[in-house]
Amino acid sequence: MTEKLNLYFDNAATSWPKPEPVYGAAENCLRRNSGNPGRTGHTRTLEADWLIYRTREQLARLFNAADPSRIVFTLNATDALNMAIKGIVEPGDHVIFTAMEHNSVLRPLAGLRRAGLISTTMVPCSREGCPDLDFMERAFQPRTRLVIFTHASNVCGTILPLAEITQLAHRRGACILVDAAQSAGAVPIDVAAASIDMLAFTGHKGLLGPPGTGGLYVRQGLTLKPWREGGTGSRSEQDLHPEIMPELLEAGTMNSPGLAGLAAGVQFIEATGIARIREHETALRAYLALRLAAIPGITMYGPADSTRCVAVLSFTMAGVDCGELGYILESGYGILCRTGLHCAPLAHQALGTFPAGTVRLSPGFFTRESDADYLAGALAEIATERKRFD
Ligand code: ALA
Repeated sequence: MTEKLNLYFDNAATSWPKPEPVYGAAENCLRRNSGNPGRTGHTRTLEADWLIYRTREQLARLFNAADPSRIVFTLNATDALNMAIKGIVEPGDHVIFTAMEHNSVLRPLAGLRRAGLISTTMVPCSREGCPDLDFMERAFQPRTRLVIFTHASNVCGTILPLAEITQLAHRRGACILVDAAQSAGAVPIDVAAASIDMLAFTGHKGLLGPPGTGGLYVRQGLTLKPWREGGTGSRSEQDLHPEIMPELLEAGTMNSPGLAGLAAGVQFIEATGIARIREHETALRAYLALRLAAIPGITMYGPADSTRCVAVLSFTMAGVDCGELGYILESGYGILCRTGLHCAPLAHQALGTFPAGTVRLSPGFFTRESDADYLAGALAEIATERKRFD
């Protein structure tokens, strides 16, 4: 195999390509709507204001949040998770999380724990990435304030049981924080029907927007401590940060070009339909799994049933280091993917792939079956070559 392409199998890190209007919307905003939203009342400012309001409305519609002001914009999912965790816990609180969490949850919790402010319990997960709900049930304490879980694993794709965990947490008087970094835009999410207290999402993965965008949904009645304080363009006479949403959690100049791109991404999703996106991505994961299963020496991790997953597939090849395999895929075949621990060390412990990690393939809506064929051909060739040199 000598043909060298540029095949992108790293949509779980950031989606690419973006729908064509995303590029145009970001550029157009930078060139033409470059006023500072919320500041004064000239035309450019009002245009930027309107753009941001519309983006908020679109996201509220996508997640079925009745009030768009409950969606606050952040830099990314990590920013939103930090805002949620540090905005809700009080000294002495207890927090439950699962072994599938990303470092964007693990590290803020570890910092708070080490500072002696909170205690935590980790819920173990199976080799398929499913949390032990009996263990979780027993983990609640009188001061359990929050249960945090990823909606879908960034390592093996497993979709966690959102309804069961939410019901369990609410029965025990705790709030839930859902990390939707890998599911927003890929799986339908209804914050009202699912009684979600807080949902953290990023704009640059499944929502198909630019990096530097993301958000946090906070349900009505839940008030967080401000994450950053400063200029909002509103109530400037006050010495303290305004308590109204979304300003309570937003300060400083907004990333309007990024949000313009995000709006175009969400518009593409609305027009295409999440069901269609999900169908395509699930079929591709299933097809990839089928093709990889036929290659000697490959072991896949996580659920075999792709309907239980988002489009993320982790595997290892016997006798080949993951980093080296990633390098061969890019240098020899022009295939781009992510290798290693994917910022989720405990998930790899659960899957039995710590510390070496895995090679992760994450197709997207624009990936074709023929791309999967090319990838499978490359892996089959690498496996055969490897055997010859053994
Ligand atoms: N969290 C992203 C990933 O899983 C960056 O690759």
